[in-house]
Amino acid sequence: MGRIAIYPGSFDPITYGHIDLIKRATYFFEKVIVAVARNRHKKPLFSIEERLDMVQQTVAGIDKVEVDTFDGLVVEYARRRNVKVLIRGIRMISDFEYEFRMALTNRRLAQDVETVFLMPSEQYSFISSSLMKEAVSQGADMSSFIPSYVEKRLKEKVMPC
Ligand code: COA
Repeated sequence: MGRIAIYPGSFDPITYGHIDLIKRATYFFEKVIVAVARNRHKKPLFSIEERLDMVQQTVAGIDKVEVDTFDGLVVEYARRRNVKVLIRGIRMISDFEYEFRMALTNRRLAQDVETVFLMPSEQYSFISSSLMKEAVSQGADMSSFIPSYVEKRLKEKVMPC
């Protein structure tokens, strides 16, 4: 399987669902690189620096995890890092088509890079970064789904007054 895996994503912002997946990946790999995508197409709420900082704070206590950023194609980044495995999460069947397309496109672009899918715990299977943004902006307590400092940052961003 290779000893190092890359877990790429926008992490806009990181949630406990992502953290669950990162921890699961560390059971199988010697090192997991959490790669925060600049993702110019998605127009993220948080800047790359803010997302990187939140991910770094979140994984600080988890062994075997490195955090990095990347721009451009994820397979090119994997090649630069000499990594053969990408980790992605499948929460529900609705994720499948998007993930399947992405994995097959990446395979076409780089036959030597394989995508491995993991399932997060069912308690996080329905959450997403967009849901967190929406709920926090409406004043909901999302502390069971995002770390407190992420919730604080989110409040500052979506409830500026
Ligand atoms: N827990 C909670 N939420 C999760 C999750 C989990 N375990 N896994 C995925 N999600 C959610 C995210 O919160 C996010 O929600 P949102 O859409 O509401 O914001 C959504 O699923 C997808 O986010 P993420 O996992 O960060 O992936 P992404 O689709 O934003 O980014 C990249 C995917 C960065 C890997 C992809 O766009 C990429 O590789 N970009 C580089 C360019 C490239 O190579 N393109 C070709 C690929 S074919």
